[in-house]
Amino acid sequence: MDIVAAITDLYKDSNWKEIVHRYHDHPERNKLLWVYPSENDFSFVKKCLQELQCDRIVSIGCGTGLLEWMITEATGVPVSGVEVDKVWWHCKYAPPSFIPLHVTPEEIDKDTISLLQKNKKTALLFCYFNNREAFNDYLKYYIGSVLIIIGPHQKGIHTDPQPFNDVSDDWALYKSQEIRSSGDFIVVYTKVNVETHSI
Ligand SMILES: C[S@@+](CC[C@H](N)C(=O)[O-])C[C@H]1O[C@@H](n2cnc3c(N)ncnc32)[C@H](O)[C@@H]1O
Repeated sequence: MDIVAAITDLYKDSNWKEIVHRYHDHPERNKLLWVYPSENDFSFVKKCLQELQCDRIVSIGCGTGLLEWMITEATGVPVSGVEVDKVWWHCKYAPPSFIPLHVTPEEIDKDTISLLQKNKKTALLFCYFNNREAFNDYLKYYIGSVLIIIGPHQKGIHTDPQPFNDVSDDWALYKSQEIRSSGDFIVVYTKVNVETHSI
């Protein structure tokens, strides 16, 4: 069966564990998502969110929202997904969406700002993001203190920002974990000079 149909079936069965177990190294996995964290990686995210008292995530450039749906399934934390490309994501050739997409114009609008400013317990996630200017803009409006970047480190794939050493001094590295031995990392930053009540 085609990977999109197979993953959609597993999604309908709420079987996220089988999705990551079976498809994390499938040659066509990028049709739906750039990186498939393991169960252990989702636990790492859950623990970081608990330690940093975040009860919500906003994911920018979420694509199909498959990662975001799996994060919610695995951690219980709700994730809102923001995408920019309305024409592509609503055309008949687009891959399926696994969460409702919040579609934003290039210039951040009022609705998107309110997502970024709903409360301070929101973490901001970028997975395989590739638009530095937009990244800086989102950070300008974001009022929380937890930034998660997921992306490749020294594996010949370019993202902007990269997961390590690519954010301003406003952000301090909190914790990081490699996704299996994939060369992809989940990197959690906290805002400098903002009190984060670590347990
Ligand atoms: C390489 S894809 C990654 C998609 C998904 N996060 C994943 O890991 O599979 C980068 C995504 O960022 C989106 N993007 C680019 N600029 C954006 C912006 N200003 N606001 C929201 N999304 C944006 C693109 O449309 C694209 O879907």
